[in-house]
Amino acid sequence: MNTDLQFGSGRDREFVFTEKDFERVCRLIYEHAGISLKSSKQDMVYSRLARRLRANGINNFRDYLALLESDNKIEWEAFVNSLTTNLTSFFREPHHFPLLAELVIKQKGRHPLSLWCSAASTGEEPYSMAMTMVDAFGSFTPPVSIVATDLDTNVLAKAEAGVYPVERVEKLAAEVVKRFFLKGTGVQSGFVRVRPELRAMISFRQLNLLSDVWPIRGPLDAIFCRNVMIYFDKETQLKILQRFAPLLQPDGLLFAGHSENFHNAAHLFRLRGKTVYELVKPKSHDHHQVK
Ligand SMILES: C[S@@+](CC[C@H](N)C(=O)[O-])C[C@H]1O[C@@H](n2cnc3c(N)ncnc32)[C@H](O)[C@@H]1O
Repeated sequence: MNTDLQFGSGRDREFVFTEKDFERVCRLIYEHAGISLKSSKQDMVYSRLARRLRANGINNFRDYLALLESDNKIEWEAFVNSLTTNLTSFFREPHHFPLLAELVIKQKGRHPLSLWCSAASTGEEPYSMAMTMVDAFGSFTPPVSIVATDLDTNVLAKAEAGVYPVERVEKLAAEVVKRFFLKGTGVQSGFVRVRPELRAMISFRQLNLLSDVWPIRGPLDAIFCRNVMIYFDKETQLKILQRFAPLLQPDGLLFAGHSENFHNAAHLFRLRGKTVYELVKPKSHDHHQVK
């Protein structure tokens, strides 16, 4: 097979993008982030990375990929950020949040509680967790700490800022918006900002789920790992699930995305509700720092 052939729409493209280039992109992002790109993603990859070629003043993918492989740290970060998919929303899969509230209400005697949102994207999910905690404890300073992590540094910066266009909250009940968000005025009109009390409950950090070391301290009451495993192959998923299990409290919960299932880790996790898992064999937590 001639792997130097361009894809169908290649002739109209600004930059030469061969099948070999696409395969190189796939290999790099898989090795670094575990993301498996299907061949149907060729156009998406082209358009996202074409911006990086323009930004670097490079006019072909081969040179761009050589730049990346020369271990250019700044471009690596931009490359990774370009290839992640960050779709999210507040209270996405609403059935998860009453279960989270129930879990922490049961634990009210044991403080502080610890939650981890492991693919936080632009922050809607960890802020939904924080709002749920405020409701569960009837206080804007509940004894709960939330760690929100993501691989992508761009989305993490947005999450940390906690500022959203009003359209992002328009599906929420008016009283929820009033209670948890501040409306922008002047140059900020058209935007809302999460209340500082919610922001104070969350610490944001970059974390690659593929890294050997996670700066996460257990035991955790809940791990949200939603809509990120779908980008990983089963082997990678299993490795991550094996590291989640000892981080959880014996009665802790693991929340997955709507199209994800962890049947391949049935020895570790069993279904407790719709896309919510509990430990099969809760273990004692001798090692809370997972390496
Ligand atoms: C589709 S979003 C899911 C956001 C949120 N959890 C939700 O369900 O609404 C997937 C997120 O996973 C992140 N991601 C992809 N690969 C990752 C990795 N190896 N480690 C950590 N986060 C990763 C992406 O940057 C992206 O923000």
